[in-house]
Amino acid sequence: MRISVIGCGYLGAVHAACMAKLGHEVVGIDVDERKIAELSAARAPFFEPGLDELLKEVQETGRLTFTTDMSAAAGSNVHFICVGTPQKKGENGADMSYVDAATNGLLPHLSPGDLVVGKSTVPVGTAGRLSSLVRNQEPDAHLVWNPEFLREGHAVADTLQPDRFVYGVPDGSEHHAAVGVLDEVYAVPLADGVPRLVMDHPTAELVKAAANSFLATKISFINAMAEVCEAAGADVTRLADAIGMDDRIGRKFLNAGIGFGGGCLPKDIRAFMARAGELGADQALTFLREVDAINMRRRSRVVELTRELCGGMLLGKRITVLGAAFKPESDDVRDSPALSIAAQLQLQGAVVTVTDPKALANAARRFPELHYESDLDKSVAKADAVLLLTEWQQYRDLDPYALAGVVASSRILDGRNVLDAAKWRAAGWTYRGLGRP
Ligand code: UGA
Repeated sequence: MRISVIGCGYLGAVHAACMAKLGHEVVGIDVDERKIAELSAARAPFFEPGLDELLKEVQETGRLTFTTDMSAAAGSNVHFICVGTPQKKGENGADMSYVDAATNGLLPHLSPGDLVVGKSTVPVGTAGRLSSLVRNQEPDAHLVWNPEFLREGHAVADTLQPDRFVYGVPDGSEHHAAVGVLDEVYAVPLADGVPRLVMDHPTAELVKAAANSFLATKISFINAMAEVCEAAGADVTRLADAIGMDDRIGRKFLNAGIGFGGGCLPKDIRAFMARAGELGADQALTFLREVDAINMRRRSRVVELTRELCGGMLLGKRITVLGAAFKPESDDVRDSPALSIAAQLQLQGAVVTVTDPKALANAARRFPELHYESDLDKSVAKADAVLLLTEWQQYRDLDPYALAGVVASSRILDGRNVLDAAKWRAAGWTYRGLGRP
């Protein structure tokens, strides 16, 4: 099929490459010339495992091109909207200006029978609104809401083999013409047994908001348990292991630590609350305010623990922060709890050095006042305390004996509860985890 993908960020660039991998002829469109230049040279404009290789592979087939020119969409029958919906400045709601601009830019290039497929995370009601715009422009075109569930760091696999496809079609019916078209787009994964669910527009939009809210709630639940464990002298990691063995609960997303960040969960729960308020259903989601509050409290807790670890004073203390990305295998620092903690420590007088294998350039753009060091050994030299805040494999694998010879004081705060506390203590370290004795 001939496909256009509008918006080539963390979602769209991966989606475009994966659609070409599935055998389609794809054009990726973005207003950012730098991004398009990188992608055209088969280089990912951000770090995502496997994406560089995939771009090279599919561009060699000639099935994938990139451009800043929206009129290139005219040759396609299926148009994916993959632009961002960041949090509005100073408000909880989502900024819809990119989705609106992408849709309005696409409208003049639609032909009869075309399918516009929304993938961006949007407030419920958006699909209905955009559907009218599409129909007014081209009565024979349709709009489907097909939310995306990919995780950064696993984006390629999540796109090629998702847990499920969700199609939100105007009448919610399996027999809607758009269903067959999307089935053709996803023919390969569908043949591999990936389930698909057809539903109406608002339900499809809500599936995404509900899924991310549930994940955020799960993380904040275990972080709330971490607070209680700290008060009671208990160990939240053992608690999570034990409750996670109940199939109804499950162990995934029960890792207590410095909390969730990134370009999705924090802004999605806020936008969901804002939208529910507009719909008169705000009471239903007041618990998400608590989910958000528990999450943000983790960051202040780490600052306090670091102060304790440093003998009650942060002033002049040399602190090394391991990890700047909001999670490992990503260079994304949007709402990164690690960076937010590093900045708070610096504000309180500590001398902070941040290291990360991939995210330093993005981090330096966001927090230019922090000191960055790409060399891990140099970053920890003479540190008064080391904070593991993003659980990259190389930090999990650190040798406490070797590291003890490099730092000024053997103190470590394990913000992700990934280190073997007994091993570090045996090597002479003062070890602090979160929600662990
Ligand atoms: C999230 C969802 O997991 C995806 O399904 C969704 O498609 C995506 O948002 C989106 O809306 O686009 P992502 O933001 O890539 O994906 O990252 P997650 O893997 O969900 O992690 C989010 C944050 O939670 C990270 O900061 C991570 O460190 C933290 N986390 C995760 C925990 O603190 N504890 C856990 O047990 C799991």
